[in-house]
Amino acid sequence: MTTDSPKTRSPIYSAADRDNMRWFWTHYLRSKSPWLGLVLVMILIQGLVYQQFLAMTESGLRLIFESGAIADLIEVCVVVFFLFAIRGLMSYLVPRLTVWISNDAIYQMRRDLIGHLMALDLAYFERTKSGEIIQRLVTQTQQLGVFVGQGIANAVRDAVTVVIVSGYLIYKNPILFTAAVVVLPFIIWVMNYVSERVKQAQGAAEHALGEYINGIEETVSGMRTVKIARQEPVEETRLMKGTAAIRDMMTRVQITQALVMPSIDLSSAFVYVLVIGGGGYMVLDPAFDVDGAGIITFLLGMVMVFDPARLLAKFFGDLQSQLVLLDRVRSLYHEHPSIDEAPDAAEDFDTGGDIVLRDVRFAYSPDHPLFDGLNMTFEGEKVSAIVGATGSGKTTVLSLLARLYDVQDGEITIGGTPISKLKVDSLRAAFSVVAQDIVIFNNSIWENIRYVNPQASEAAIWEAAENAEIADLIRARGDAPVGPKGAQLSGGQKQRIAIARAFLSDAPILLLDEATSALDQATEARIKSALTRLTRGRTTIVVAHRLSSIADADRIFVLEAGRLVEQGRHDELLARGGLYAQLQKVQSG
Ligand SMILES: Nc1ncnc2c1ncn2[C@@H]1O[C@H](COP(=O)(O)OP(=O)(O)OP(=O)(O)O)[C@@H](O)[C@H]1O
Ligand SMILES: [Mg+2]
Repeated sequence: MTTDSPKTRSPIYSAADRDNMRWFWTHYLRSKSPWLGLVLVMILIQGLVYQQFLAMTESGLRLIFESGAIADLIEVCVVVFFLFAIRGLMSYLVPRLTVWISNDAIYQMRRDLIGHLMALDLAYFERTKSGEIIQRLVTQTQQLGVFVGQGIANAVRDAVTVVIVSGYLIYKNPILFTAAVVVLPFIIWVMNYVSERVKQAQGAAEHALGEYINGIEETVSGMRTVKIARQEPVEETRLMKGTAAIRDMMTRVQITQALVMPSIDLSSAFVYVLVIGGGGYMVLDPAFDVDGAGIITFLLGMVMVFDPARLLAKFFGDLQSQLVLLDRVRSLYHEHPSIDEAPDAAEDFDTGGDIVLRDVRFAYSPDHPLFDGLNMTFEGEKVSAIVGATGSGKTTVLSLLARLYDVQDGEITIGGTPISKLKVDSLRAAFSVVAQDIVIFNNSIWENIRYVNPQASEAAIWEAAENAEIADLIRARGDAPVGPKGAQLSGGQKQRIAIARAFLSDAPILLLDEATSALDQATEARIKSALTRLTRGRTTIVVAHRLSSIADADRIFVLEAGRLVEQGRHDELLARGGLYAQLQKVQSG
């Protein structure tokens, strides 16, 4: 770590920190200000109890030293008891309120984060580690909640105690108090030093934790590949490196924080010696109007002030790490969805019309352009096919139709309406999709099929399952969940679930991306006849490597590295003797 000179260090409360705190306050706390006001009143009462206690003690001690009546002493004791009973009541009520306030604030913050997350583009999730997202939605928000609910409330209580009790002590003995607070600059210096170090280390620790969570996620979900490749030791080393980094970071944070206690202890020793010595001298010297009861009470007051003062100092150290967390959590809002809806977006369009790509330019990243002026027309209610080598852009075409990504130039229209002028929801509702990478949730097969159309009747789900040849498996497995990401299913079984989903969602446009590639030929043949029925009257786009399966398509498009090189019917393309004919030759051996 570089130790900058004090002048060039980043400020402990930067403009960004202040902005983040303001943001948190206006979004999640301000609406609760009446309740916060009530909490403040209760905390003030707690502080006043301490002041009253000191006053009562002083008069109680005087009664003892100056042989007052027992009855007076009893009265003092009763009052002191009731004072603390009031403080106790407040100590119960304050957390009741603050716990509710903070948990509700965190609930709302998570709700907003989840909402924002759902609106982000697919591209965001393709470049962001899931560990980072989990960390924001789980641990960082939780820590912030605990800090707001307990940390800040306690700090306010401590501050009130310090102010009220110190005020009383100054009033009683200004000379002694001034002498006692000479240690204050030292404590402030230590706290500043600690705060700054903590802030730096906390940022690094959060990063290390994010990497670690992500490592666990990747290793656990990729266990099959890990085991076959015998990479367990490598993964173990990777995770151990993560835990070691966290250990070192957390040790650094906590060792720095540990500097606080000894410096407080040292300062308090200094103060107590000063009060006993200096105060004792004042009692002995008739020049001062101070008695023993006054000094004992003063010492008691110092003891009462010291602990809250210490906690308050620690609070400012903790605040630095919380500011780092707040900044991390809020940074999610710096991500904006780029696929947005025109304000006058239409809901209805001719879903049976032609799908046209006109001069489409698209790149996943600026340095790798994929399509540069791509033109294609998929005829409405007919079956079109896209073929081409792996990586030629077939799946990307389908993704562009559903606006998972936006074209960078040119346009895509369906039935004459540009898809950018449609409500994203209505556009996507027009598609039934069997994707190449099938996503199965850890639920029953039945629920996995129902996912695309939760309102579907039981009969409709059975029909979809029968069409996709998965009904027998549903009967055999019942409600048993299929494992995380469908780990307990075979590739072909997953594919049949995806096909059943397409049958169930029953949308006017059907996209099949290698939909039957994992099936044996007998099963494929049976599903094919059901699929053919499904394609009737729907605009269908099929992506397939096995050319035999698309021979009867109305039009076939041949892509090569993002360019359309041929199009036509199966026999036309064969007759032309181009790329398609070559592919056919290779496949028929
Ligand atoms: N999410 C992504 N981010 C960045 N690049 C991508 C992404 N998806 C695909 N690509 C790249 O874009 C190109 C086209 O990919 P695409 O998935 O469309 O190919 P494909 O024709 O469907 O191939 P396959 O037959 O293997 O499924 C590839 O070079 C691929 O590396
Ligand atoms: Mg593909």
